[in-house]
Amino acid sequence: MSEPAICLIVARGRNGVIGREGDMPWRLSSDLKQFKALTTGKPIIMGRKTWDSLPRRPLPGRLNIVVTRQADFIAEGGQVAGDLETAFDFATAQARIDSVDEVFVIGGGQIYAAALARADRLYLTEVEADPAGDAVFPALAAGHWSEVSRRVCEAGPGDDHAFVCRVLERV
Ligand SMILES: NC(=O)c1ccc[n+]([C@@H]2O[C@H](COP(=O)([O-])OP(=O)(O)OC[C@H]3O[C@@H](n4cnc5c(N)ncnc54)[C@H](OP(=O)(O)O)[C@@H]3O)[C@@H](O)[C@H]2O)c1
Repeated sequence: MSEPAICLIVARGRNGVIGREGDMPWRLSSDLKQFKALTTGKPIIMGRKTWDSLPRRPLPGRLNIVVTRQADFIAEGGQVAGDLETAFDFATAQARIDSVDEVFVIGGGQIYAAALARADRLYLTEVEADPAGDAVFPALAAGHWSEVSRRVCEAGPGDDHAFVCRVLERV
């Protein structure tokens, strides 16, 4: 089996904002459903602050890998990695065991910035909003990414905004 694709999955505002004070800057239940469908059964990698922000830990049905510099950090129900490369090693090993072809980096801003150079595929939810916030998704280099799908979604009952779901692959 070939190496699993390294995928980043994110919802970002038009201004690049992804988070505010340790939380999401919007409520988008349709996007959370899609996130669950895409990532369940596949390893997920996150920064320690995103782990801390989860309302329910670990996210069920997926290996949760938490990246932290704290040598004594315990992520109950998850696996701790001291750096991103170790996290990719854990994720790839689990993907091989489970015969899945993707591993996901699920945020937040620091971890996306560190992982973008390794990414093969981006699942981008482009939220039609410009919220205030303190965590951002890094800018994408022009010409490095090609859009392979796009779906426009009106705001549903549990959504604060309309959004566009895009999948980009590294050129
Ligand atoms: N919109 C979205 O799709 C989305 C997705 C996920 C998260 N978010 C939001 O993003 C925000 C959190 O993002 P954030 O940038 O503040 O934090 P983060 O990336 O989730 O976590 C940062 C932490 O990760 C660890 N870390 C970072 N780089 C590391 C490295 N190279 N090696 C080892 N450990 C490393 C450090 O943990 P220690 O301090 O423990 O050492 C650091 O404090 C929240 O508001 C959250 O709601 C949004």
